[in-house]
Amino acid sequence: MLDTALPPTIHESRLSLQRLLPRLRKSFPTEIEGADWAAFEDRLERHFPVLFDLLWQVYGPSYDFFFHVEQILRTCAESWLERDADLKSLDAIREGHAHWYQSNRVVGAMAYVDLFSGDLSGLREKISYLNELGVTYLHLMPLFKSPDGDDDGGYAISSYREVDPALGTMDDLRELAAELRQQGMSLVLDFVFNHTSDEHEWAQQARKGSEEFEKYYWMFPDREEPDQYEQTLRPIFPDAHPGSFTYHTSIGKWVWTTFNNFQWDLNYKNPDVFNAMAGEMLYLANAGVEMLRMDAVPFLWKEKGTNCENLEQAHLLIQAFNAIARIAAPALIFKSEAIVAPDEIKKYVSEEECHLSYNPPLMVQLWNSLASRNARLMLHSLPKRFELPQGCSWVNYLRCHDDIGWGFEDRDMWEVGMNPHDHRWFLNHFFTGNHESSFGRGRLFQHNPVTGDARICGTTASLCGLEKALYEGDELQTEYAIRRILMLYGIIFTMGGIPLIYLGDEIGLVNDYDYPEDPEKAGDDRWLHRPSFDWEKAENRKNPDTVEGKLFSGMLKLSQIRKNNQAFHETRTEFVDVGNHHVFGYFRVHEGQSILCLANFNDEPAIVSATRLRQLGMRKTFTDLVAGQSIVATERLVLEPLQFMAIL
Ligand code: GLC
Repeated sequence: MLDTALPPTIHESRLSLQRLLPRLRKSFPTEIEGADWAAFEDRLERHFPVLFDLLWQVYGPSYDFFFHVEQILRTCAESWLERDADLKSLDAIREGHAHWYQSNRVVGAMAYVDLFSGDLSGLREKISYLNELGVTYLHLMPLFKSPDGDDDGGYAISSYREVDPALGTMDDLRELAAELRQQGMSLVLDFVFNHTSDEHEWAQQARKGSEEFEKYYWMFPDREEPDQYEQTLRPIFPDAHPGSFTYHTSIGKWVWTTFNNFQWDLNYKNPDVFNAMAGEMLYLANAGVEMLRMDAVPFLWKEKGTNCENLEQAHLLIQAFNAIARIAAPALIFKSEAIVAPDEIKKYVSEEECHLSYNPPLMVQLWNSLASRNARLMLHSLPKRFELPQGCSWVNYLRCHDDIGWGFEDRDMWEVGMNPHDHRWFLNHFFTGNHESSFGRGRLFQHNPVTGDARICGTTASLCGLEKALYEGDELQTEYAIRRILMLYGIIFTMGGIPLIYLGDEIGLVNDYDYPEDPEKAGDDRWLHRPSFDWEKAENRKNPDTVEGKLFSGMLKLSQIRKNNQAFHETRTEFVDVGNHHVFGYFRVHEGQSILCLANFNDEPAIVSATRLRQLGMRKTFTDLVAGQSIVATERLVLEPLQFMAIL
């Protein structure tokens, strides 16, 4: 009997499940005995209507829609039946404690396996170092098979099921994931699902003229359609690759390549592509990956006449991947990598889409405040965009393996009296050391002489002035650089969300100027800020008189402060104007605990009046958790240059 109050796809989904379930059971006659299968059916009942509806919205008109739905269910069932017991028990725990990633105990770190530890087995030996820092979330950069030579730092994947032989094997990966899990750490890997490398099996088949696999990509016999699309596209790597299409002489076709020539965009208009990638996703989940960094999400869907970024179908597809994870690997969660306009970023974040998101608005504001030595723009802009839907969280970071692009909302800049163009020009000059007030030692990335646009490369230490200060042997500036790094990380560790450390920042690794000697890296300046981890320097962390010792112990303290204080749980952050534009302030409040965080972005002391503190509800005496001191502020509170406080 049809319930006419329900939307048509709900009826359809029920009918479809009624029809498909017995067929599914029949395909796995022996495997489905036991409670595990019942759990699977239970989740199918709960999540299939959502999945069906999403797929219907994207692929509904396709004549073989139901065939594809059945294929997806088979993939889910197969994957579930192959999932090992340990992961299934994690599924159960995570289902019961869904928002675990909002805990103040979560601390993230990221690294390239080869640069950090040589290979995957080397990494297992370094787990104790990660434990020392309190890391519970480890993002390893792409480690799958990829073309020799330039492979965009591994983001050109030739097989989602084979580890790069130089790093190890799939078994090594599974063992590493299991060991991390044992030690309370979640493994995070990228899901590079917008494109494959041109050496992926599918691409190779397409090159050979396979009709089936040509449809996996966007291939055109001539420039007619690429020209039409390009009228509204923006180039992503204009230096390396000016347009969005590449002509492949061997096949006589133009292929859509948003990033590099060797990264072929997948064509999600073809439901086979979605199904195949769902299979790859579940394969990663079954290898023990707990979190997927959803790479380059804005580009998934393309339509003529649009900029082919952030289109509605991209959201629907990510939600469909999410629904599949809920059915077949419920412990798996997603983090979105949407480096787009601030207001677009949040659209990817919800429990139905990506539970987590990088927080580029915070990242760029921090660098801006550092250069400007004030927090005006940040205080004006962040409160408008910080709040996330229930159950979601930011991943707060200072920098990652990519460049820093000045993704402010222009409107916000005008509102505080800044000219967006001129201010971006200032920041680029500042961070490349070309401004009189500069301490940064970065380099421009993808400079577009026509528009003047550019982004910045550089390690945290080099951008914070450590490289310059050490080179000049300037002790005061060295001290200030250390303070800057710890102040920025202080904010990252205490602001609502998961803090993400780029491993090496905790010992102040500076830019690597040797990267152009490696032909695989020479063409991509982002290698400037991806130095090899220096284990000799890391040894100095034990000596409190060294730069490494000061940074590491400072970072460790921040990590402990976060873990020991309930106020840093979840994401709620109340921004406050403390009456001094050099000082950035916010409250973290949770379960009866309230902590006021203050950061002085100036190289001079900054004063917050006692009256303002009282207005904010602070008493005369409080404790600064960072300095481990109690403070009496009868008339005023003085922050040292570049000081970060967390006061209770
Ligand atoms: C993401 C990665 C970046 C890569 C691009 C293409 O933005 O962070 O490093 O170049 O995707 O995969």
